[in-house]
Amino acid sequence: MILEGKVSKIFHYQEIDSTNNKAKQLAAEGAEHGSLIVAERQTAGRGRRGRTWISDEADNIYMSVLLRPKFAPDKAPMLTLVMAYSVAKAIRNLTGMDIQIKWPNDLVWNGRKLVGILTEMSVKEGKIEYVVVGVGVNVNTEHFAKEVEDTAVSIRQATGKMWKKETLITAIMQQFLEDYKGFEQVEVLSDIQTAYNELLVNAGREVCILGEKESYHAKALGINEFGELLVLREDGTQEAIYAGEVSVRGVYGYV
Ligand code: BTN
Repeated sequence: MILEGKVSKIFHYQEIDSTNNKAKQLAAEGAEHGSLIVAERQTAGRGRRGRTWISDEADNIYMSVLLRPKFAPDKAPMLTLVMAYSVAKAIRNLTGMDIQIKWPNDLVWNGRKLVGILTEMSVKEGKIEYVVVGVGVNVNTEHFAKEVEDTAVSIRQATGKMWKKETLITAIMQQFLEDYKGFEQVEVLSDIQTAYNELLVNAGREVCILGEKESYHAKALGINEFGELLVLREDGTQEAIYAGEVSVRGVYGYV
């Protein structure tokens, strides 16, 4: 892989429970910033909000990046948006697919989910010990499991041909390393904000904001430099929505 020398180390497994779990274990054992963990299959792939990420087929990408940033823990959630942008850009460049971002970090094609990202962090004495950014990309699946067959899509389904996972992983990591470098310098998303917003499927659309205390409809405008979603409420007031607190749905469905 041409990433040799760029990422610190590549850990490759045929089958493990979850690349995020493995990344955390390796982090505890002292693995370096920039390590990449890749598995052909996962027996306990995890999604956000305690969901399962179906990972029994070797057709798809299951990978995690281990980072040891120097910045404060409250900046870490923005890494998820950086990764979403990097993966979108890399796959768009390689395949020509018109991939969009569903805020904050799902990648969709034609309204269906193509990529999921799960970011986890360990903080010790107020400092980041490590961050793990896990990425699942539907690459060569032809037929999805019943639970997701109406909502998921693969690159193969979209383009009509098979793709080499290694080529995709290399492109994703090259793009991410470049975008991470930019982010690390300013600790906000100013470098990618405009480009991210151009890919944002929610932009200009009515969305339903599902919070713990209230749910309401609003028009999504775009992200600010902190990665918050700016929305226009029906009473004309503007609000910045923080990803950890709410989930956003399209009024007529997933997007
Ligand atoms: C989501 O719910 O959308 C996030 C899915 C993240 C899945 C990836 S696959 C590689 C890494 N290992 C995991 O267990 N989860 C992430």
